[in-house]
Amino acid sequence: MVVLRTERLVLREFEERDWRAVQAYQSDPRYLRYYAWTDRTEEDGRAFVRMFLDSQEERPRRKFQLAVVLGAEGNLIGNCGVRVNGPDLREGNIGYELDPRYWGHGYATEAASAVLELGFAELGLHRIWAECVAENLASTRVLEKVGMRREGHFREHAWIKGAWMDSLIYAILDHEWRARTDRT
Ligand SMILES: CC(C)(COP(=O)(O)OP(=O)(O)OC[C@H]1O[C@@H](n2cnc3c(N)ncnc32)[C@H](O)[C@@H]1OP(=O)(O)O)[C@@H](O)C(=O)NCCC(=O)NCCS
Repeated sequence: MVVLRTERLVLREFEERDWRAVQAYQSDPRYLRYYAWTDRTEEDGRAFVRMFLDSQEERPRRKFQLAVVLGAEGNLIGNCGVRVNGPDLREGNIGYELDPRYWGHGYATEAASAVLELGFAELGLHRIWAECVAENLASTRVLEKVGMRREGHFREHAWIKGAWMDSLIYAILDHEWRARTDRT
């Protein structure tokens, strides 16, 4: 059972009933812009949350995708997590998404920092990477703000809403993360 607390957020384990909040924000066209999905049904919402519930039972556990809850209100506003790719490699990747009503307040940066700390300090990872659509400037900015470095640019890598889009790979190493967090 993982719970992470930041200044303004709580990142907690998903519960089955969270599907409603997830399906509601995932139906927003602003959210859907950089996904191949065009809409999200109740079934999609339930299956999405079910994926996270299943990963809680895995032993050893590899996926820590947590519900992002706004501390003050207790509302679910998105999810953020770290996934261990290959335990032998000590490599993992992070991913996040937020309800569009809560964009622009630094919440994704705060949540991503918390899962990077989980990955390096608790899971013992050496390298953590993330992939995003190059056009998704808010996401690339989050990755830069947490100190990740652009390592790769895959041209026409994702087919999204009738067009090929480039993808970017970002990464950060454990000693780079530690040097940043030791400074603060
Ligand atoms: C990506 C996402 C999680 C960002 O959430 P957020 O809480 O708004 O992010 P933050 O507030 O921490 O940081 C966003 C940064 O991007 C900047 N930004 C936002 N939109 C931008 C745009 N169109 N162009 C350039 N910069 C932009 C913001 O100004 C901010 O940078 P700053 O602090 O230097 O001003 C959110 O947009 C989202 O959920 N999108 C849909 C799902 C998604 O794309 N997930 C990522 C998949 S890789």
